[in-house]
Amino acid sequence: MWAPEFHIAEDWLQVFQELVASPGVVLVIGAPDTGKSTLAHFLVYKSIEEGFRTSYIDGDLGQSILGPPTTLGMTLPSEPPADMGELKWDRLYFIGATSPAGHLLATAVGIKRLVERAKEDKAGILVVDTTGLVAGEMGFQLKFYKIELLNPRHMIAIQKEGELEHILKALRGRKGTKVHRFSPSQRVRTRSPEVRRAYRGRIFQEYFHRCNRRTVSLDSVAFVHPQFPLLTEEGIDERFMGRLLGLNDEEYFTLALGIWEGVDRDSNEVSVLTPLDDLGGIRYLHLGHISLKITS
Ligand SMILES: Nc1ncnc2c1ncn2[C@@H]1O[C@H](COP(=O)(O)OP(=O)(O)OP(=O)(O)O)[C@@H](O)[C@H]1O
Ligand SMILES: [Mg+2]
Repeated sequence: MWAPEFHIAEDWLQVFQELVASPGVVLVIGAPDTGKSTLAHFLVYKSIEEGFRTSYIDGDLGQSILGPPTTLGMTLPSEPPADMGELKWDRLYFIGATSPAGHLLATAVGIKRLVERAKEDKAGILVVDTTGLVAGEMGFQLKFYKIELLNPRHMIAIQKEGELEHILKALRGRKGTKVHRFSPSQRVRTRSPEVRRAYRGRIFQEYFHRCNRRTVSLDSVAFVHPQFPLLTEEGIDERFMGRLLGLNDEEYFTLALGIWEGVDRDSNEVSVLTPLDDLGGIRYLHLGHISLKITS
């Protein structure tokens, strides 16, 4: 059953009917704490209940629902999910930061890759949840070009007091995307930056709780380091200590995260802390932008 503590507004049911009548990608946008993920959950739950093959795409790098922070995620649940936090991801895409600021291109590309993947997996409804970055030029760039890229059938804009207008204005006259304007539910609870930081810390801690120190040969994988485009072999040194890594497969999807623990120059092997057991599928080490210290 859909969680009884959530209030289902009349306009939620209406948008659901429109989605069923015209399925496809539905993009949910809004500032932080406007109820985006709760509404996305509702649409996922209800559509699966009605027999649709629905994918949930988690576009939030910070307060991630699928996979750890710094990743985008995609899943195709077989049952209506009572709790989104319990869902297992089907694909992850590592960005390596907890906010899209400074990583707009990677974020947009990652979402597109996950949406395409879900379509290949025959998803008929694709619910794309997003971060609350909507303000200013950066918010505009991210949301406007994401809409360009995904060409969603529906876009749900949850707005308190005009903070999405700069984006919505630019979509006037857009063909193929139905824009649904909502106000946030009265029941939305806000989360302070401290609470958000603590959440990320806890998830990382849990994620790396059962990890091992493993070695990955730089002769057998490609090392991708967007921040240091001119890096030479000699430049691979202590500066990467503690850095978060995406352990990516041949399709550039992320098998797991790792933490850089050092490099052995003689053997050309990187020491990595990771919960991943089978390292056989790793084709890329993607250097993240943040460092992590895990306490045991
Ligand atoms: N319709 C609703 N009824 C009851 N509680 C709600 C409803 N919508 C949101 N909430 C509560 O408000 C909180 C924030 O909601 P939610 O996580 O959906 O917002 P968000 O916009 O996705 O936030 P963020 O910007 O962090 O991603 C959650 O604890 C959620 O349970
Ligand atoms: Mg959310």
